Amino acid sequence: MSQLNKKEYVRKMFAGISQRYDFLNHLLSLGLDKYWRRFAVSKLPPGYLLDVCSGTGDVAIEVSKNNSVIASDFCYEMLQLCMLKIKDGDRRNISCIQNDAENLSFKDGVFDGAIVAFGIRNVADISKALSEMNRVVRKGGRVVILEFSIPENVVFKSIYYIYFKKILPAIGALVSRKNGPYSYLPSSVMAFPGRIEFVGLMKDAGISKVEYFDLTFGIVTVYVGEVGSEILLKEKTL
Ligand SMILES: C[S@@+](CC[C@H](N)C(=O)[O-])C[C@H]1O[C@@H](n2cnc3c(N)ncnc32)[C@H](O)[C@@H]1O
Repeated sequence: MSQLNKKEYVRKMFAGISQRYDFLNHLLSLGLDKYWRRFAVSKLPPGYLLDVCSGTGDVAIEVSKNNSVIASDFCYEMLQLCMLKIKDGDRRNISCIQNDAENLSFKDGVFDGAIVAFGIRNVADISKALSEMNRVVRKGGRVVILEFSIPENVVFKSIYYIYFKKILPAIGALVSRKNGPYSYLPSSVMAFPGRIEFVGLMKDAGISKVEYFDLTFGIVTVYVGEVGSEILLKEKTL
């Protein structure tokens, strides 16, 4: 699939499942997704923050408890649900913007931090999206990525795979009444770079001091990095 085709496929897929997205998220993760998002959000600095691939806005809403945040996504149907949640919760420090993660419409260095939860795997050009996050965050700010991973423990992995590759797609198809999206989930996770490779992609995008944290036996990983290397900062002050 070409990058352009993947983009359109992903956008249409999320538009198609948007109404069932939150319900299935909580059900299929047994509610753990809330804890994963909270952990990732705790790694952001305070200030003015960007939630990329925000979808229905759960991360942005968590961030908005203590900060101002922009929720951005290229799928209007997902963002519409985010806007409804914001209205219902009477939250004033979140704005929603329809935006492509590979081409963010923000000036350089305007945010204190940027986060993407379960979104980077779906982006057609991952390196471009990482570079964009690096560009819009100020020097010394943070980029945080929460994404599914492959567990490393062999015994746990074999049990988890039965759930992830067989049971999850079946429940997802039943509830969403669509076959594609919940089979796409495990296949996209299998195709996603491993932890060390992904850290390399972050570094190539200019993000330094990258650390990662495995949660729930390595089902998900939170990557945290800083924008602007010390060398670049030094060059600027000379
Ligand atoms: C699995 S959802 C994650 C939503 C949310 N962050 C969460 O934690 O539930 C992935 C989201 O990424 C968005 N997405 C994928 N590629 C994108 C791109 N290139 N630009 C902006 N959004 C994108 C999709 O529209 C979808 O809403």
